[in-house]
Amino acid sequence: MKQITFALGKGRLAKSAMKVLNELGIKCSEMEEKSRKLVFTSDDGKYKFFLCKVSDVPTFVDYGVADIGIVGKDTILEQGKNVLEVMDLGFAKCKMAVAGKPEALDKYNNGGAIRVATTFPNIANEFFNNKRKQNIEIIKLHGSVELAPMVGLSDVIVDIVESGATLKENGMVVFEDIVDISARVIVNPASMKIAYGEINDLTEKMRKQFAK
Ligand code: PRP
Repeated sequence: MKQITFALGKGRLAKSAMKVLNELGIKCSEMEEKSRKLVFTSDDGKYKFFLCKVSDVPTFVDYGVADIGIVGKDTILEQGKNVLEVMDLGFAKCKMAVAGKPEALDKYNNGGAIRVATTFPNIANEFFNNKRKQNIEIIKLHGSVELAPMVGLSDVIVDIVESGATLKENGMVVFEDIVDISARVIVNPASMKIAYGEINDLTEKMRKQFAK
């Protein structure tokens, strides 16, 4: 039987993903110990886990070094890799939205050229080019995106909104929702053929227990 390999994003998402796998009876004691290790094997030796940066999960699955990835829909859309999205796990729910200071709403609605700060340039471009048909200049940031409209770097942001607290505390509001986000299971297309039995078994178990 083929050893199935998972790519998991470091941090919160990996913890939730391991909880999902634990509930299916897949245990990985060595991942519970505090360490700087990046590769782990399940207690039964049947599964291997890579811990990578969240935004790199689709890359490891696209190249087939990992058979399965657990990652947010935001990362899947932004990375646009050749992977099969097979399931919505229904946790880590949030949305991708356009937001800004209330006084910028008129400029946004007028449809003229605007500056958009974001860590998701592909999602932002797709939305403004194809859906709103509005000219934009993307300003790519790596975090703390909400700062951009506050200091005059951009008119709006495209970012994740979960509780809405970050926007509220920085005097901003949602202008428009782009897409609902949650954790998804992705599979390498070749792995799906080679190890269909093992992968399908696993995803069917997940579906019964978690899928929304
Ligand atoms: C994310 C996101 C927002 C915030 C939204 O940032 O970019 O800033 O969470 O959550 P909320 O609606 O519950 O306030 P994260 O904390 O991951 O850090 P970052 O600013 O470095 O992206």
